[in-house]
Amino acid sequence: MAKEKGKKDTRPLMNMLHEVQERHGYISEHMLKQISVDQDIPIARLYGVVKFYTMFHTEPQGKYVIEICGSPSCVLNNGVRLEKFLENEIGAGIGETSKDGLFSLYKTSCIGCCDEAPAMLINGEPHTKMTVERLKLILKKLRDTEAAQAGEKKK
Ligand code: FES
Repeated sequence: MAKEKGKKDTRPLMNMLHEVQERHGYISEHMLKQISVDQDIPIARLYGVVKFYTMFHTEPQGKYVIEICGSPSCVLNNGVRLEKFLENEIGAGIGETSKDGLFSLYKTSCIGCCDEAPAMLINGEPHTKMTVERLKLILKKLRDTEAAQAGEKKK
C-alpha cells in the first residue's frame, strides 16, 4: 500500500483493496492481515468483502485472467460450450489457474454486452460475439506472444 506501515489510511476500503490487487496481482492473507491491523477492521469483515466481490482474488493469478459471462443472454448463446472449451483448452476449471500460470478462468455476471453475446473479459477487455474458433485464435495469439517474450529473455 502507498501509505506508511502502521498508519491508518483514510481512503475507502474498496480503493485500498483495488490498489493492493493492482500492485500484487492478488490480495494475500498476509496483506489482509496488514490491512486489518492498520485500519482496525476485523479480518472476518475483510474476508467477507474480498470473497463477495468476484473481482478480488486471494490467490496468485495467471498472466491472463479470463472472465466468461455466466448471465442468461450469454449462457443461452453458446456460453456453456465456450466455457467447456476453455476449461479443456487451458486445463483449468472455473476459479482455477492453468499449470503454466498463463490463464486464470472465472465466471462473471453480465458485463453489459448482452446484445453481442456470448461475451467475456480477458484482462478486463471485453470480447464479444465469441465462438470457439475466435477463442482458439485469441489463445494462440496470447501463447505465441508469451513464447516470443520468453525467447527474447533468453537472448
Ligand atoms: S448476459 Fe452476458 S454480457 Fe450480459
